[in-house]
Amino acid sequence: MIDTLIIGSSQLLTLKGKEGISTIINGGVAIKDGRIFDIDTTHNLLEKYSDCPNIVDAKNSLVMPGFVDCHTHLVFGGSREEEMEMRLNGSTYLEIHKAGGGLYSTVNATRALSKEDLLIESKQKLKKIIQNGTTSLEIKSGYGLNYNTEKKILQIINQLSSESPIDIVSTYLGAHSVPKETDRREYINWLKGKSLSEFKKYAKYFDIFCEDGAYSLDETKELLEAAKSEGYELKIHSGQFNDLGATGVASELGAISADHLENIDDDQIELMAKNSTVAVLMPGVPFFLKSKYPDGRKLIDRGVSVALATDFNPGSCPSYSMQMMITLAVFNCGLTITEAIRAATINSAKAIGLENSVGSLEVGKKADIIFLSLKSSLEIPYFFGTNLVTKVFKNGEELV
Ligand code: NIG
Ligand code: FE
Repeated sequence: MIDTLIIGSSQLLTLKGKEGISTIINGGVAIKDGRIFDIDTTHNLLEKYSDCPNIVDAKNSLVMPGFVDCHTHLVFGGSREEEMEMRLNGSTYLEIHKAGGGLYSTVNATRALSKEDLLIESKQKLKKIIQNGTTSLEIKSGYGLNYNTEKKILQIINQLSSESPIDIVSTYLGAHSVPKETDRREYINWLKGKSLSEFKKYAKYFDIFCEDGAYSLDETKELLEAAKSEGYELKIHSGQFNDLGATGVASELGAISADHLENIDDDQIELMAKNSTVAVLMPGVPFFLKSKYPDGRKLIDRGVSVALATDFNPGSCPSYSMQMMITLAVFNCGLTITEAIRAATINSAKAIGLENSVGSLEVGKKADIIFLSLKSSLEIPYFFGTNLVTKVFKNGEELV
């Protein structure tokens, strides 16, 4: 006996296999114990499981795997709409950052919030992410830049992960920038030493922002190597505004993903392909910063797996919507619609090591399923700017 039967889709996108989206017209899914038990046409499923106690009719909606958002900074205090206005009036992101605003203003706001308040705000943000169809995500620390606040953020990420049905993967990003009040070398030594060992219990991944105004290539290499020997898996923010060469370095150290990549040379793309490093593109960032988009077409053509993420954060992309990232990727990064849908689901799962349990609809995987009020996959980027998700299942449980 199965628990739930989903029937009546306009199209069921399974994303099964190495390419394409594998569409079943009027398909459905049988769910047992939170996992996918069977996938077939509505007609066949109703014949096989007519005794199912919970039949959910998608009423001609598009049914697909829940989105996977593999790069977010969801835990932060405050917001930065004034900074957005400054940028609209001609200031650049890096100018504001170097002057001690930008990211540093979020660090101050995050330090100032109590753990209880920060948790409440983070839960509200997570709820919006789920309403937009995301059923698995990664969350980074990085707005503390000191012991107490990085710990507070990491504990909140862990609490969200254990209390929410959503899969949440945790990343330690103490190397988001160098805090204004601390000596640079002293901070790097603390990161490398005590912080890496003490925070290992809270995070699977270590991430660093390699950029003019954040960490240099040498510092990045030093910290990635230290994190690797402490047992972290590696991620990197690289090539966002300047190509300092860190993408290739991280790939050679076995990083699971390199993220941003608006500015990256061919040698580094080759190293990504060779080391199976996933390219995480976040087209909401150049949209919001009026900067250069990454060349997703080139990455794919050179054999790199491309994933999409929101980068949800208060400075460079305050968007909850993976659907919007698909639109931006097909219009600005050279991805086909099929590639963008794969990038937002199965490839994004790969970027956080979850591809065996989520990201596609396959027998045995988690029943993470969303309905969108659309007739076909082509309409996902087409009806942009509106949340079209009408139902969200996580582990077979209806959340929205
Ligand atoms: O991924 N690039 C660095 N970190 C974030 C933005 C941080 C901020 O501006 O608050 C990003 O874009
Ligand atoms: Fe980021």
